[in-house]
Amino acid sequence: MVKIAKKGKKKFYITTAIDYVNAKPHLGHAYEKILADIIARWHRFIDEDVFFLTGTDENAQKNEQAAKKAGIETKKFVDKNAQLFVQLCKKLNISNDDFIRTTEERHIKASQLIFKKLFDKGEIYKGHYEGLYCYGCENYITEKDLVDGKCSMHDKEPEWIKEEAYFFKMSKYTKKIIKFLEKKNSVLPEGRRKEMFNRVKEEGLKDLCVSRSNLNWGVKVPFDEKHRIYVWIDALSNYVTALGYPSDKKFKKFWPADCHLIGKDINWFHSVIWPAILIASDIEPPKTVFVHGFVNIKGSKMSKSTGLVVDPIELVEKYGLDSVRYFFARNIPFGYDGDFSYESLIERYNGELADKLGNLVSRVVGLAEKYLKSKIKKKKSDEKLFKNLKLDLIKKQMENYEINKALTTIFEFIDFCNNYIQEKKPWELTKTNMEEFENIIYNSLDAIRIIALLLHAFIPNASDRILTQLNLKTEKTIDNCKPGLLKETKLNKKEILFAKIEDGK
Ligand code: MSP
Repeated sequence: MVKIAKKGKKKFYITTAIDYVNAKPHLGHAYEKILADIIARWHRFIDEDVFFLTGTDENAQKNEQAAKKAGIETKKFVDKNAQLFVQLCKKLNISNDDFIRTTEERHIKASQLIFKKLFDKGEIYKGHYEGLYCYGCENYITEKDLVDGKCSMHDKEPEWIKEEAYFFKMSKYTKKIIKFLEKKNSVLPEGRRKEMFNRVKEEGLKDLCVSRSNLNWGVKVPFDEKHRIYVWIDALSNYVTALGYPSDKKFKKFWPADCHLIGKDINWFHSVIWPAILIASDIEPPKTVFVHGFVNIKGSKMSKSTGLVVDPIELVEKYGLDSVRYFFARNIPFGYDGDFSYESLIERYNGELADKLGNLVSRVVGLAEKYLKSKIKKKKSDEKLFKNLKLDLIKKQMENYEINKALTTIFEFIDFCNNYIQEKKPWELTKTNMEEFENIIYNSLDAIRIIALLLHAFIPNASDRILTQLNLKTEKTIDNCKPGLLKETKLNKKEILFAKIEDGK
């Protein structure tokens, strides 16, 4: 998996959160990976050198607790469950360049090195800690986080714990973190940045407990083996350990991260704690932490106890990968909470993928098959048609992480192309003006070629299938989205891209 960036290209390093392996992957995990994949693929499409990292967070106590419950030795349990996340990535056609597991030697060594470096610099010291600890959060919590005596996030009573522990001098970094959070794109969307900024401004930063004693699971503090590194410090460091920190070429090339994509529940860890650790370790903080919302099911939080769960693997098996990827990208405004329901997935699929995109391709390829024996001659580009292709806008929207808007813009062009065919009625020209018929077909196919390229980041399978119908092995780059690049060709046989889903769920 070693990847060395080509010289001269802009680099783009994107990460997802690393997932706990206490249970099998859920829809939220799939959502985050799909959106990260769309961004990664898009950045490759605009000719950047991308490094895309995902992985699993295996040293957490909740993994150990789940292993105990299952009656399986912890390492065996995490090995088995980590594979479910690897398989999920395959099933979702995620183009990650690496998959880090925090029980890997490369990670353990490097995360210990970071801890030791901070201790040697006097940024970490030994003391005592006591407080309310929530096992769900893997974190100490405060009275403010409680509702009826229970952690508001996990609906569980916290325990009072006192222990000898190491502390990170985070308080020292209040000003630097404020400065980091003052930068416009440090945290996106803007509301999430303000939330963090206001909280640090109002409360300041306290020193942070960064070790736990009396644990049997987790990375050991290298110079004091009675202690384990607090799982969040260990977990966050995956973003640099996967690049081979401190010495590897990859680290020098790809750090700082251009985008840490995470969910709203872990914003504080990424936008405050992680930058503080990095600054203390003399490492640049990330350029952007992008905070996405939560996927709910029919308006409510996913939950096993209420039966509100959808298995992402089963979903893909039933409805196909492109429909799931399209749905997540199109239906949920990126950065905000959104809802999943079978009904809206089917509606998007039938109404947009089948009726708009599928219909356009099948109509044009069908006409070419019927009247031209699929032989396409090169013609002059129709400026009026391509005026409606808003490439710069799509680029801008993707740069601003407006994924759903970019898709809308692409689909507006698809609508325009469908109308173009509808208005020009090329089938009526086959007896009177074959020249004009060929012009319309050529331009429509050229537009379809560009649409397939633009959609590659979002729905890679459909994009490939369209390009195959056009008999094209073109490189998927934005440079190839110029009109007129379709050469003389013989199309392959027409194929239904998206068969309509007729039954309800
Ligand atoms: N292990 C930590 C992250 C450590 S990152 C250094 C963790 N793991 S998690 O498995 O609980 O969550 C992984 C990612 O999935 C997080 O970004 C989280 O916000 C996201 N999601 C969890 N539930 C979600 C939804 N219901 N919807 C969308 N994403 C959500 O946190």
